[in-house]
Amino acid sequence: MPAILAIDASPRGAASHSGQVGRMVLERLLRRSPGARLIVRPVGVEPLPHVDAAYAEALELPEARRTAADRQALARSEELIAELEATDRLLIATPMHNFTVPSALKAWIDHVVRAHRSFALTPHGKQGLLADRPTYVVVSAGGAVSGEGPLQPDFVTPYLRHVLAVIGIRDVRFHVLENLVRGPDAVQTAERRARAWLDEQLPEE
Ligand SMILES: Cc1cc2nc3c(=O)[nH]c(=O)nc-3n(C[C@H](O)[C@H](O)[C@H](O)COP(=O)(O)O)c2cc1C
Repeated sequence: MPAILAIDASPRGAASHSGQVGRMVLERLLRRSPGARLIVRPVGVEPLPHVDAAYAEALELPEARRTAADRQALARSEELIAELEATDRLLIATPMHNFTVPSALKAWIDHVVRAHRSFALTPHGKQGLLADRPTYVVVSAGGAVSGEGPLQPDFVTPYLRHVLAVIGIRDVRFHVLENLVRGPDAVQTAERRARAWLDEQLPEE
């Protein structure tokens, strides 16, 4: 049965622009697969703990040498990676915070991007161990990242593209909502562009 994992990294809950477009992606995915299982991780409003010393130490040990305490330290990571393994569509809705991903999303990444578990270290570099799947990433930014005029650097999309590829997820479709703090006209433009992107990625059937 198809299954979808949705990561919502905005702290703003229902008011979130990225979350709103993310929910439109989910609606269209669910319309295509009405029985799909949906797992939602609202990491922006229910933050995951950051990885700690016990996690960092357990990570270094081969499985055979791990104690019960080491396994406990990795339990949350195990749970979050299992969610990725159990799903075949991924949605990430996230604001840009200080040019990059919010720390809430980074905490999720630190739990799921794990050597020997979601990627292997090989003589040719890191190799993803998870199945690729269609992945939709909706980013919202207060300022501009494209077009004319003063632009800011975007460390969100290149970073996510790289880190997802490390674990094996390469089929990633990005959309950036921009200029969201520049008044209602700019918000309307961003919404119109988001709908055009949705129609292109997941046309109404
Ligand atoms: C802590 C923080 C840092 C932010 N940094 C940036 C930034 O670097 N660039 C930008 O364009 N907008 C920045 N913003 C604005 C948000 O990206 C913008 O309001 C976005 O629409 C919020 O997304 P959301 O509605 O999904 O929460 C920042 C907002 C916060 C709260």
